[in-house]
Amino acid sequence: MRIAALRERAPGETRVALTPETVRKFAALGADVAVETGAGETAAIFDAAYEEAGAQVADAAAIVRDADIVLGIQAPDPALLSGAKAGAMVAAVFDPFARRDRVDAYAAAGYQALAMEFMPRITRAQSMDVLSSQSNLSGYKAVIAAADTYGRAFPMMMTAAGTVQAARVFVMGVGVAGLQAIATAKRLGAQVSATDVRSATKEQIKSLGAKPIFVEDVAGIEGEGSGGYATEMSEEYQQAQAKLVSEHIAKQDIVITTALIPGRAAPRLITDAQIASMKPGSVIFDLAVAQGGNVEGSQADELVVKHGVTLMGYANTPTTLAPDASALFARNLYNFLSAFWDKDAGAVTLDEEIGDAVRLTQGGKVVNERLAAQ
Ligand code: NAI
Repeated sequence: MRIAALRERAPGETRVALTPETVRKFAALGADVAVETGAGETAAIFDAAYEEAGAQVADAAAIVRDADIVLGIQAPDPALLSGAKAGAMVAAVFDPFARRDRVDAYAAAGYQALAMEFMPRITRAQSMDVLSSQSNLSGYKAVIAAADTYGRAFPMMMTAAGTVQAARVFVMGVGVAGLQAIATAKRLGAQVSATDVRSATKEQIKSLGAKPIFVEDVAGIEGEGSGGYATEMSEEYQQAQAKLVSEHIAKQDIVITTALIPGRAAPRLITDAQIASMKPGSVIFDLAVAQGGNVEGSQADELVVKHGVTLMGYANTPTTLAPDASALFARNLYNFLSAFWDKDAGAVTLDEEIGDAVRLTQGGKVVNERLAAQ
C-alpha cells in the first residue's frame, strides 16, 4: 500500500501529517511512504529526516502517483490528487460544513474523503482523535500567549519591595482545551476558576484545584448531548449564565474562552458591556475566534484593545506549536489507519462505527449522515 503526504497549502498552516516516526511505523506495516519535498520544514522536520526514516521525498505529482492513501492536516484540493489510485482514501480535516464545495469535489473525483474531525467520541477512538490532540495544545498555548500579553505576573510573589498579587484566570468552556488551560494557568501560579454548561465538568475543575463557577438556580439543564458534546442552551439558562459571568468576570485579570458547539457558530459568551466591566490591562483569549468567536469584538490574529482590555485569539492555534501538533496529529492518523490495516487484503477496511462516522464521500457520492441532515 502506498501512503503519501503533501505539503500543506492553506495559508498559515505549519503542520505536517506525516513525521519520521510515523513513516517508520507505516513502513513496519509494509507500506511505501512518500512525502512532498519541503513538507515538514515549517514543523522543523527536514527532508533528510524523512529520507532517513525510509520515505520517498519528491514533488507532489510524483508522491501521489498510485497512492492508496493520502494524508493531510487540512484536506488538499482534489486537483492535486490526480494520479492517485481510483477511490483512494484521503484522511485529513475537511471542515465539511463550511467547505461543502470541497466535499462535493471529492465525491465528483471518486475519492473516499475521511474527515478526522468526525471521529466518534468513544474510548477506543481516543488515540485517533485530532480534535482532542490539537485542542489540548491550544488550551496550553492560549494561557502562555495571554500570560505574555498580560503586563503583570501570574504567581503571587512576596518580595522585599512588597507583594505582587496572583493573577485571576477564568476559563469558560471546560472541554479538552479548557482542562489544559486550567492546568497550565495553575502551573504558572494563577488563581483559577472555570465554568461550562455541562455539569459533569464541575468535578473535573475541582480535581485540577480550580474553582467551579456554575449557575445553580436554573433547574433541569444538563447541557450535554451525544458524544459528550455541548448542546445549545435554553434562553433562560443563557440569561442566568450571563448574569453570573458578568459578576465574576469583573474581578478577573485573564479570561480564556473555549466554547464550541459542533456544526454551529461558537456561542457568544462575553459582550462588550462585560468587557467594559473588567479592569484595564486585563486580557481575554478567544480560542473560538475562528469559529465566530465567544467574545464580542475579537479578531483572529489581532490584538484588539477595548475599554483597556486586550482581546486576542489565533485563526489556527495549533500551528503555533507545529512540531508538537504535527507529532500528535501524525500519531492520530497512524493509530486510525493501523487499527484497520488488513495486510493480507492490502487495504484499510474501516468498521461500521468509525467508518460511517468519518467517511464523507465514496463511490462518487456524499455518504455522510451529518452532511445529509444539513
Ligand atoms: P468542544 O471543543 O466542542 O467545546 C469546548 C467546551 O465548551 C465543551 O466543554 C462545551 O461543553 C463548552 N461549551 C459549549 N457551550 C458553552 C457555553 N455556552 N458556555 C460555557 N461552555 C460551553 O468540546 P471538546 O473539548 O471537544 O470536548 C467535549 C467533551 O467530549 C468532553 O467531555 C471531552 O472529555 C469529551 N471527549 C471525549 C473523547 C473520547 O471519548 N474519545 C475525545 C474528546 C473529547
